[in-house]
Amino acid sequence: MAGKKELVLVLDFGGQYKELIASNIRGQKVYTEIHPGHLSAKKIKEMNPIGIVFTGGPKSVYKDGSPLADPAVFQLGIPILGICYGMQMMCHLLGGKVQPAAKGGEYGKTKTVLDESCPLFHGMGDTITTLMSHLDEVTATPEGFRVAAHTKGCKIAAVYDKKRKFYGVQFHPEVKHTQLGDKLLHHFLYEVCRAKGDYDIGEYIEEASVQLRERVGDNQVLLALSGGVDSSVCAALIERALPGKLTAVFVDHGLMRKNEGDEIEGIFRKRQMNFIRVNAGERFLGLLSGVTDPEQKRKIIGGEFIRVFEEESRKLGAIPFLAQGTIYPDVIESGGSAAATIKSHHNVGGLPENIGFDGVVEPLRGLFKDEVRALGRQLGLPDFLVNRQPFPGPGLAVRILGEITEEKLEVLRNADAIVREEIDKLKNRPDQYFAVLPGIRTVGVVGDERAYDYVIGVRAVCTTDFMTAEYAAIPHRILGKISARISNEVKGAGRVVYDISGKPPATVEWE
Ligand code: XMP
Repeated sequence: MAGKKELVLVLDFGGQYKELIASNIRGQKVYTEIHPGHLSAKKIKEMNPIGIVFTGGPKSVYKDGSPLADPAVFQLGIPILGICYGMQMMCHLLGGKVQPAAKGGEYGKTKTVLDESCPLFHGMGDTITTLMSHLDEVTATPEGFRVAAHTKGCKIAAVYDKKRKFYGVQFHPEVKHTQLGDKLLHHFLYEVCRAKGDYDIGEYIEEASVQLRERVGDNQVLLALSGGVDSSVCAALIERALPGKLTAVFVDHGLMRKNEGDEIEGIFRKRQMNFIRVNAGERFLGLLSGVTDPEQKRKIIGGEFIRVFEEESRKLGAIPFLAQGTIYPDVIESGGSAAATIKSHHNVGGLPENIGFDGVVEPLRGLFKDEVRALGRQLGLPDFLVNRQPFPGPGLAVRILGEITEEKLEVLRNADAIVREEIDKLKNRPDQYFAVLPGIRTVGVVGDERAYDYVIGVRAVCTTDFMTAEYAAIPHRILGKISARISNEVKGAGRVVYDISGKPPATVEWE
């Protein structure tokens, strides 16, 4: 996709917001790629970027083994923006000083005083709120640098050397908590790097189609369609590029939300592809019978999904190409993250490569989620599909704690439909919202009779990256309505509770 487009390189030093930086830059019409922080200056020169961003990171630049950029990168004449650790590292490598912060560091929204004459801050006024998250700080700037911002706890919160076009900010312009962060990045791209803004997702369909035709030729392609955003957009793109050559297999594992399987079928049956729905609910529920451990549930569902898919592809005869809806964040994540496995996320599109295909095509491999959604709209997919909230591959199996039964699934589906329906009516909707069934029964009274029914948990979170999240402050009026409707309309649900946990320490899903 890069082609002859202008490129901004994001060099990764372990920061958790690297994808936000890159997708923000692409949203500002400049193509960008994320590469490891230690990429050599020689390689960088070959890639010919118009600018470089150093991400944040958890380490201390002055400690042995901390990731550092190739010092020769500063000789290339390319503008650089260092963010948080990236700014500290730039200062460290250019002769400044970085130390543990005198006041122990800063964390959270912080009033930051700007020097508006710094090109990054043009037109921003003299004070903004920024997100700070650091334990170290720059205590002496390298030669040629000026200080461009400070806070109560940090004397050097931004630095720049206008001549060499090196800029650094201690805060995170890429997160929503920082006011005018988009504008700051825009200034870096357009005033400092002099970008023209030649990246347009609209051209992607044509470019990707040409590549798909070259790769696949006259062959047939098989796709595992989950009905999620990525596999749906992937299907629509291949359908457009290779008319009549796509077979999409939708394995309904019986763990979908209310009416979901039929909705997915309704959309794709009408399109110009061979669509196969496999109703495998009984098979999955049989295997899950008596299983209570969340990781075991995920493994059973993942393994069985592959078996069902293999069986179907065998029935279809030899289809040489397998398509997968892999997107850029999947590629970045599989590039070797040392993070501990909290949950083994199972994406139904994530099939192993050794299942008997000559080749795998992944036409969304270079795109961020927002771009995939934009592409889906251009390909004529309905809004509700394109704007879907994330839904775990193992489906409702990880929203029912303990053993999964038909009875529990029915209660959860009905309660979940009400939660989504009511929250959908809000103007400012949270980023993800759903019901869970913790498997606990509770005593109640219905009419004059004792009842003993399931507890329903309501979960709603606000987040940009799903790595951290805050519980959504849903108005009590709406929560009351959800509770009343579930109690009245859902047989088997006896009590409704609202989950007010943030991530961390809780995760978004309950399992
Ligand atoms: P957690 O629960 O890890 O969720 O805070 C973060 C995001 O990932 C989704 N999620 C999953 N997605 N397979 C998936 O494809 C899974 O097993 C899985 N578990 C969680 C979750 O819905 C949230 O958006």
